[in-house]
Amino acid sequence: MNILVLGSGGREHTLTWKIAQSNHVDHLFVAPGNAGTAAIANNVPVSPNDFEAVKELVVNENIDMVVVGPEDPLVQGIYDYFQEQEELKGVHVIGPSKTGAILEGSKEFAKEFMSRHNIPTAAYQSFTSDSLEAGYAFLETLKAPYVLKADGLAAGKGVLIIDDIEEAKAELKNMLVDAKFGQASAKVVIEEFLSGIELSVFVLTDGRDYLILPTAKDYKRIGEGDTGLNTGGMGAISPVPFADAEFMQKIEERIVKPTVDGFKKDNITYKGFVFIGLIKVDGEPYVIEYNVRMGDPETEVVIPRIKNDIVDLFLATANGSLADKTLEIDERAATTIMAVSGGYPEAYEKGKEIVGLENVKDSIVFHAGTKQEGDKVVTSGGRVIAFTSFGDDFREALKTSYDSLNKVCFDGIYYRKDLGFDL
Ligand code: AMP
Ligand code: GLY
Repeated sequence: MNILVLGSGGREHTLTWKIAQSNHVDHLFVAPGNAGTAAIANNVPVSPNDFEAVKELVVNENIDMVVVGPEDPLVQGIYDYFQEQEELKGVHVIGPSKTGAILEGSKEFAKEFMSRHNIPTAAYQSFTSDSLEAGYAFLETLKAPYVLKADGLAAGKGVLIIDDIEEAKAELKNMLVDAKFGQASAKVVIEEFLSGIELSVFVLTDGRDYLILPTAKDYKRIGEGDTGLNTGGMGAISPVPFADAEFMQKIEERIVKPTVDGFKKDNITYKGFVFIGLIKVDGEPYVIEYNVRMGDPETEVVIPRIKNDIVDLFLATANGSLADKTLEIDERAATTIMAVSGGYPEAYEKGKEIVGLENVKDSIVFHAGTKQEGDKVVTSGGRVIAFTSFGDDFREALKTSYDSLNKVCFDGIYYRKDLGFDL
């Protein structure tokens, strides 16, 4: 088979690395990819959001399967686009339909889905500029801190957690009336604050059956001790030590099953990954959010722990035969540490040469924001490279990842030294 991966981050390098190990693969393409994917596949300078250009690539290269990394093309309906185009009809797309992708594209849609299917989540109401006063009144009924979420996609920045009620009201107005997050905050979901520890569960579903992939925990803040600005993710650990069998049973019964059953009941075509952001409150799981793709950097620890041929699993996903598949999981712990550009997640410089990569022997290096320039690899993004390692437990794996990271350098390199501090 010829397979195309869409995207250019650490998640896509990891998926490409895993797909490259499959017996099903003849030719492997990545659009647009990075210096890491260039070493194991053919990078093609096509944007995942340019469906016409993706179509041309798929037709010209006789691609049989498209694996969609990021959420944007999914929310814009790439699955449906492939169904509608005569030349693309036989091509498998791993990802949800446009309706399924709204679970990530609209917080309100996700909350309504959960409430319709009795999936535990924080109490909420949603508001528009016409119901601003009602929003203020709803805030008065809640206890601090106040959770305000822009309904639409806001590049991971659309959630505000505010201690002071007057400030919460001002921000609500900012979002609804002054378009703080543009069209994304024309509607705002206000929810009850849940206090607990977070984890992520990943599911691969064909819309009827599902496989629960390894759990992971990511570290989103830039600063040690989970302080400072939010980032895309500074590192991840899998499995999550506190997600024991009893807790996983609750997650499967109360959340995973009703979610997949919900797709059936609501006639949502969904053949892809579901990333469920969860919080454990007094021993019970609640959903914080759905994403309709894998997480980044969670992919860098979840996918390497899967022993199956991943294209086998993708084919079963596309054909609706996931019920026949069983996962084989590497029992070892996996960790990844993300090296980022100095200044990230605010302004940072690009084009810094990355040296020492050839010295890393004990970890897998997944490229995120990198670019090949002649015979050099240079930085081209905020998150630059992830170092994934295995160990008998996450502490041992982390030690290996840190040792590997210390062999690599670029001007301004920064990383968190405290991953796992809360476990
Ligand atoms: P989201 O984009 O919905 O995942 O929200 C971003 C982050 O805000 C989450 O990872 C949580 O840390 C936090 N968060 C979101 N909703 C809640 C909530 N209801 N209670 C507590 N924390 C929340
Ligand atoms: N690491 C969080 C995300 O991929 O959304």
